[in-house]
Amino acid sequence: MDDNLYRQRAAEHALGYVESGMTIGLGTGSTATFMLHGLAARLADGRLQRVTGVPTSEVTAALARELGIPLTTLDRQPHLDLALDGADEIDPQLRLIKGLGGAMLREKIVAASAARFVVMAAASKCVERLGERSPLPVEVVAFGLPLCVRRLRALGGVPALRRDRNGAPFVTDEGNLILDCNFGIIADPEALAASICAIPGVVAHGLFLGMVSLAVIAGPDGIVELHAPSVHQ
Ligand code: A5P
Repeated sequence: MDDNLYRQRAAEHALGYVESGMTIGLGTGSTATFMLHGLAARLADGRLQRVTGVPTSEVTAALARELGIPLTTLDRQPHLDLALDGADEIDPQLRLIKGLGGAMLREKIVAASAARFVVMAAASKCVERLGERSPLPVEVVAFGLPLCVRRLRALGGVPALRRDRNGAPFVTDEGNLILDCNFGIIADPEALAASICAIPGVVAHGLFLGMVSLAVIAGPDGIVELHAPSVHQ
């Protein structure tokens, strides 16, 4: 069956956790796009009222505005009730790789600002070990690019500068560059995350560790909810 259908089902199910009056983080990507459409439909027909969103990217902000979803900022609403977002890989401990959409810096800030972070995904995103399929995106400031490349290589990665469809370096919403780093299977995500964070010039990386409260996974056998035993915010 079409993976898109599973993404939509996961998004629709995750919307069941949104209550009227909540302020929620709005993720980025195709699964989050299904969620935005579902949220807009619920606001339009009155199933949900007074829900405001903090978008994780300019793309999400534009779509939310188009759909009539009220937006706010972390300045005005520093504490979010819930954040809903997709993922590129999910391991059995609910650790994630995110950022293939290029928004992981704002996504991580928004998820960390939320009392609950619900990740929504098709079952195809589930892996035994992180790094099985996806490179690890690392956002770096342009000035630090050469050093970041060198240090990421020293950590065992193969960094490739992300480019846009015109071949120019991809620039994030925060004005930075992204290195998509192939580390192969990531044996120790926590250790790798700490090492990457220690590189001067790195702004963010796509490892989301100990952040997920609940994963909603949709696949051929229906919806599965995976609850995190404990969440460190
Ligand atoms: C955006 O930066 C990413 O973290 C997305 O959340 C992730 O790539 C999932 O996107 P899809 O829902 O399109 O698979």
